[in-house]
Amino acid sequence: MDTTFDTTSLKLKKEYPNAEDFLPLNGTDYVELYVGNAKQAAHFYKTAFGFQSVAYAGLETGMKDRVSYVIQQDKIRLVLTSPLTKDGPINDHINKHGDGVKNVALWVDDATKSWEETTKRGAQSTFEPKTIEDKNGKAVLSAIRTYGETNHIFVERTDYDGPFLPGYMKWECEYNPEPVGLKYIDHMVGNVGWNEMNKWVEFYAKVMGFAQLISFDDKDISTDYTALMSKVMTNGNGRIKFPINEPAEGKKKSQIEEYIDFYNGAGVQHIAVATDNIIDTVTKMRSRGVEFLRVPANYYDDVLDRVGEIDEDLEPLKELGILIDRDDEGYLLQLFTKPVGDRPTLFFEIIQRKGARSFGKGNFKALFEAIEREQELRGTL
Ligand code: FE2
Repeated sequence: MDTTFDTTSLKLKKEYPNAEDFLPLNGTDYVELYVGNAKQAAHFYKTAFGFQSVAYAGLETGMKDRVSYVIQQDKIRLVLTSPLTKDGPINDHINKHGDGVKNVALWVDDATKSWEETTKRGAQSTFEPKTIEDKNGKAVLSAIRTYGETNHIFVERTDYDGPFLPGYMKWECEYNPEPVGLKYIDHMVGNVGWNEMNKWVEFYAKVMGFAQLISFDDKDISTDYTALMSKVMTNGNGRIKFPINEPAEGKKKSQIEEYIDFYNGAGVQHIAVATDNIIDTVTKMRSRGVEFLRVPANYYDDVLDRVGEIDEDLEPLKELGILIDRDDEGYLLQLFTKPVGDRPTLFFEIIQRKGARSFGKGNFKALFEAIEREQELRGTL
């Protein structure tokens, strides 16, 4: 299998959206994480990542079994949910997976049709279309399963004008740290088990009408020790991009396997969030305690030979450990956090695109070697 970065088909896709685009998606609506302590997780994402308080549901809103905090930064909306009782599906999820992404909600104009079209094509239903209502209006939700125990929730909010969704109240909070310039979700990556990548690529193609953008095999993404394979799926308008990774044979245990071991199955590996000024964003995040992966300083010795001229000074990029890559449309700057929870599972990527629409292939080797050094320390390589 060769690496293909098919920019032609991407351009065509942009100009001529799939005629069979039976699942028009306006964008990511929210990402819901099941966490051990939602109140403290919300504090972390506000303080360290610059998210703002938006909405809340819990005992005060009549919710008996769970609590949810909704936080937002520009177009990125996270929902942090914890159980309030001792047994139940959220408890089971946290016990099995640790803190992690449960629902990737997609904003649609018609949640009923989205559910019908996808289940007709073989999606397994999580729940059928249902209308929820409060004094701010109504919304329609439906959901289907994707890899592992992760769901896609379709959110139709045309007739709703409240803080988040019916049932939630506005979360008024006196503690409001400044945003750090995160703007929208660029892509979200799923890790799946051995030989499962193509099954999920096919799911996104057949059930959701996505197209394949790029594929990387183990020759592209391998170091002396570990390897993985990846394919990137995109919806018709390009607003939703889901790379899917699977482990590949290497001398040692790949980071994907490590993830699968600790997450106990397939799940979301990283959420890539875009900024217009990565130097400013990462400077702020670092000062607020976010830990990032580090590539060796010699990465910068010849990086400009590889990527050519860039607008930024190299020095601050080097100081912050920001990585650079180029494709035939431009370049990109990116940096990866260490895992955000206790288990070596979910992490974030900060990305600034300057024309490039690829994913930083030129950085894979340096990056994976940095991850391997972390794995070594964890005894999981
Ligand atoms: Fe990424």
